[in-house]
Amino acid sequence: MPPITCVADLRTLARRRIPRALFGYVDSGSYDETTLRANAAELARIRFRQRVLVDTSGRSMATTLVGQTAAMPVAIAPTGLTGLIRGDGEILGARAAEKAGIPFCLSTMSIATIEDVRVATTAPFWFQLYVLRDRDFSRAMIERARAAECPVLVVTVDLPTRGQRHADLKNGLTVPPRLTWRNAFDLATKPAWGLGVLRGKRMTFGNIEAYLKDKVGLMGAGEWSSNHFDQTLDWDDMAWIRDLWPGKLVLKGILDPADAAQAVRIGADAIVVSNHGGRQLDGAPATVTALPEIVRAVGDRIEILFDGGVRSGQDVMRALALGARGCLIGRAWLYGLAAKGEAGVATVLDLFRRELDITMMLTGTMDLSCVCRDILYEPAAAT
Ligand code: FNR
Repeated sequence: MPPITCVADLRTLARRRIPRALFGYVDSGSYDETTLRANAAELARIRFRQRVLVDTSGRSMATTLVGQTAAMPVAIAPTGLTGLIRGDGEILGARAAEKAGIPFCLSTMSIATIEDVRVATTAPFWFQLYVLRDRDFSRAMIERARAAECPVLVVTVDLPTRGQRHADLKNGLTVPPRLTWRNAFDLATKPAWGLGVLRGKRMTFGNIEAYLKDKVGLMGAGEWSSNHFDQTLDWDDMAWIRDLWPGKLVLKGILDPADAAQAVRIGADAIVVSNHGGRQLDGAPATVTALPEIVRAVGDRIEILFDGGVRSGQDVMRALALGARGCLIGRAWLYGLAAKGEAGVATVLDLFRRELDITMMLTGTMDLSCVCRDILYEPAAAT
């Protein structure tokens, strides 16, 4: 096995190590995947200005993200079903983030609960909220995040219903997993994965287990969220959450400057410029294409985080140059987790740190707080 030198290597390994249905869930996007592909492709088009003979020996990539100290401008994005991708996957991810000194964000649709992650880790973690139709349940979830001392609540606003992902339908992904010949085959042929998942505490969405019991048993992975996420959600509800939540509030899934301006108006502390990793509105612009317009509209009034297609430290630098304060990484950390558990996530974070460090040196950057379009070559081409 050649050494792992980049996130793509971990993706290759992940494909081999977890069942096809789970790899499909992680890797795919909605419909024709045009937005999924554009996220990475448009980032890759951005070129740096190479600078020489700059003493960068005292450089630093330490920063703060939504008031939290971070060893580099990277946070782990919330992802659903992670404890099925690896047993206790959320806890492994939170531990790796803690060791690397960066924030970890737990999804509403995680397998481990808020409380599981709280007792298994010591660093504060962020909680991502999907607002369910049952507002009392949503309010209770916010209270649980508060009780777990989460400093940041990330409300995801781009999923009033779930964009169709062909792979999940074709692979028959259900939660909890159904006992099929295919699943039995996966358990037999991928024992490290199977044993880990069986050892994990749960096989279904931990945070909403109580709610699930009343509503449904086995379900298609997409079906349930489409039925139970609140499609009536609007800006007044965001103001309601703002009033309920005393900590930092982040709105995730902003892709339009008008929505970014509304986020400022309701008093959000930050936004994540995101198209859900190309898993929702297929045909939406790549996040890096949308970013400059949003930065122009609200960049001086709210902190802007970024995600979508970020697979390397170079990509982080690209987003920073266009005005983001930091990046969330989704698939990148899941590939590491699927391939090698906590050690795989640690490898991903180490790759990002080293790539970012080298990019700082080669662009003559001492301090990430002063990174701007000046480090880009032909910056006009990036808009
Ligand atoms: C996600 N994403 C996501 N977002 C969210 O707010 N709550 C969630 O439960 C999930 N679940 C989820 C599962 C999987 C498998 C993926 C790949 C993504 C979106 C995620 O937080 C982030 O916005 C994207 O993953 C960013 O794009 P990249 O880094 O994957 O290209």
